[in-house]
Parts: sequence; C-alpha cells; structure tokens
Amino acid sequence: MQLAVVGTGYVGLVAGAGFADFGNDVACVDVSAAKIEMLKRGEVPIYEPGLDVLIAKNTRDGRLRFSTDVAGAIRDAEIVFIAVGTPQADDGSADLSAVEAVGETIGKNLNNFKVIATKSTVPVGTADRLRQIIGANATQPFAVASNPEFLKEGDAVNDFMKPDRVIIGSDDPKAREILRHLYNPFVRASDRIQLMDARSAELTKYAANALLASRISFMNDLAVLAEKLGADIELVRKGVGADPRIGTKFLFAGPGFGGSCFPKDLSAILYTAGSVGHDLEIVRATERINARQKRLLASKVSAHFDGALKGKTIAVWGLAFKPQTDDIREAPALTLIDALLEAGATVQAHDPQAMPNVRAIYGSRILLSDGMYGAAEGADALVVVTEWHEYRRPDFHRLKRILSAPTLFDGRNIWEPDELRGMGFVYTGIGRK
Ligand code: UDX
Repeated sequence: MQLAVVGTGYVGLVAGAGFADFGNDVACVDVSAAKIEMLKRGEVPIYEPGLDVLIAKNTRDGRLRFSTDVAGAIRDAEIVFIAVGTPQADDGSADLSAVEAVGETIGKNLNNFKVIATKSTVPVGTADRLRQIIGANATQPFAVASNPEFLKEGDAVNDFMKPDRVIIGSDDPKAREILRHLYNPFVRASDRIQLMDARSAELTKYAANALLASRISFMNDLAVLAEKLGADIELVRKGVGADPRIGTKFLFAGPGFGGSCFPKDLSAILYTAGSVGHDLEIVRATERINARQKRLLASKVSAHFDGALKGKTIAVWGLAFKPQTDDIREAPALTLIDALLEAGATVQAHDPQAMPNVRAIYGSRILLSDGMYGAAEGADALVVVTEWHEYRRPDFHRLKRILSAPTLFDGRNIWEPDELRGMGFVYTGIGRK
C-alpha cells in the first residue's frame, strides 16, 4: 500500500520503518528540513535499539523515503498517518495545532479517497474535529480513524512489529477494512486487531497510560508506607504480583515516572474529563503522588547530610527517564539534580546514552563523566536513578575505594541492602527495610 506518515518523531519513524518492512511503500515527511536532511544522510535523530538498521534496510530497498514535501506525500498516499507532536499546552490540555495544520494540508491535497488515521495520542473527539477540518476543503470523499500507538521507548521496534493489540477506531466501515488489511501481517492472531468507534479508540490510549501510571504511583505511595511500617516494598511487590489478576509488571517503586507520555497524557485526560464536568480522582492522585515521588530521592540525600549539602559532591548514575533511551523528558534525574544544585552540592553524573541531552540543559553546571566509575570518584554519595544494565552489578569493592564516603542511594531497588550493608555501605533504597 502507499502510505504517508506525517511527523518523524518517535512514533512516526518507528511506524514508517515498520510499515515499510512489511512491504508497503512509505513516505515519511516532516516540515523540519534539518530532520529530513539528517534522515536522508542515514542518521537517526533518536537513540532507539534496532531502529537504525530497520531504516537503513528499507531505505536501501526503496520502500522507505524521507521528504519535506508533505503535500506531495499526501497526494500519493492511500492512507495518511498523522504522527506529529501533541505537546502539553499551558492549561494542561493537549496542543492540537500541529495535528490541525496537517488536517488542513490534507483537505487541500485530497485528490482521491483516503483514510486519515491519527497515530499521535490525541484527545477524545479529535477524529471528529479532523473530519470537520478536512471536510472544509475537501472535494473528494475520505474517512478518519484513530489508530493509537502503544510503543514503549527502548523497545519500540519490537512493540510495533509484534503488537499486543492493534486498535482501529473508525465510524467508517471502509476505513476499518483498509486498516485491518494493512495490519493483518503484523499479528499472528486476528483477534489482536480490535475494531471500535473512534472515540473509544482515542480513550483507550489514555486509559492504558493512566492505568499503568496509577499502578506505579500506587506502589510508590505504598513504598512510603512500607518504610514507615518497617516492611519491604520489594517483598510486597513479589507477593502481590504472584496473583495473576494483578500480574508482575509495572509494580516497581522508584523515583517516579517520567518520559514523554505519562505526564503529558495524565494532564490531558484530566483536562478532557474536567471539560465534561468529571473529576478523575484516581488520575489526579496519580499525578500528585508522582510529583512527590520525584522529589523523594533529593530529600533522602538531604536528610542523610542533615540538610547540609553545600560543598558535598553527589554522584548520579542514570539520567534518561528509563534505560535504553537517550530521552530525558520529565526524567526524575533532572528533578534530583536541580534540587542538589539548589542546595549547593556538586553533581558528577553518568549515563550511557543521555549525556549529550543533559549537557544541552546544564552546560558546565554539572560534571559529566565518560565512565560510570569516573562519576563516582571522590563523591560523598552515589545515587542510582535509572536502572541501566551496567549499574545493576557494579564493582562494589572499587566503589568503596573511590567514593569518599560509602553511601549509596538506590532509586530503583536494584541492589541487595543486606549484602551492601555487610560490605560497610550505608544503603538507602525506596520503601525498603
Ligand atoms: C509509555 C507506555 O508504556 C507506552 O505503552 C505508551 O505508548 C507511551 O508511554 P514509555 O514512556 O516509553 O511508554 O515508558 P515506560 O516503559 O512505560 O515507562 C514510563 C515510566 O514509568 C518510566 O519513567 C519508568 O521508569 C517508570 N516505571 C515503569 C516505574 O517507575 N515503575 C514501573 O514498574 C514501570
């Protein structure tokens, strides 16, 4: 099939390359000439395992191309995917201006019947709004659909190529069939494709993210309680996770969730709910608990030094909001670093991928070390914020030698408290005995 994917961010690039890999002819387009030039040179603007190989292969084989000619790609396409950004506006709602601008371009370039599908996370009602915008200019029939994307950063290619489910929301039977046909090769079992109306599809995406985020906030809140009660959240996690109704995933207490999706999507669904007079209390609590949790590591460090952080050197391992990405949007490490700097501490940090992005924010205000041990050298404490593999089993003997005090803060509960205390470390985790 002939496809146009408008927007070459995370979702657009992964979807474009994935569709091409299944034999479709895909034009990935963007208004940013700089991004398109980079992609044409074979460079991938984001770090995502496997994406570079997928893009290179499909570009070489002529199924995937990059261009700034948005109108041309739309005219050639049978299906147009909208994968542009929907950032958080000042009032907390999702800013739809980029989506609406694409809608206008589509309306003006509609030369035959096309399916217009949103892949970006968009508020409930966006498909209806797009129908109006496109319809205002269109001289040809068209159908709109909501086709939310559930990929996780760091595992995005795999998520796209082998989806748990494909949600196709449209009130138009022809659009449903065309999209089902496109996705059939991606799913081994056809019941993984769920057809529904557009509003339900749009809400499904928010519901999934809000539910996942609420699990994390629930466990983070419980971790605070566990500490007060002398229980260990890690044992509680394993205990509750053994119930298949609960399941083992997304129950890890930590420094709070970050990333480009959860914080923005919680805010947007709260805004949407508010606009129809409904208070989504659980989502509001999820947000509030997360804001508190993101400040927790800094308060634990501060409490350890009796509030006297001036002149202290704190090492931070892990800056990306999670492993396998260089993305630092809403990362808890940034909240920690801001608080440490504010309190007068010196910060020495390391991350396997995210240091260039962190350097762009902090410049020379923090020290970034090429090696993880270099960051720990001479520090009064080490805080691990992101659970990259290399941090899971470090050489603790070496750490003990190079830290100026054997103090560890384990923001992800990846280390064994008893073992470390036995080695003479002062260990502090999240919600641990
Ligand atoms: C998320 C959704 O998982 C994905 O389906 C959606 O399409 C986009 O948003 P992503 O933001 O890439 O994906 O990361 P995810 O793996 O979900 O992690 C989000 C945050 O939650 C991270 O900061 C992570 O560290 C944190 N987290 C996750 C926890 O603190 N505890 C957990 O148990 C799981």
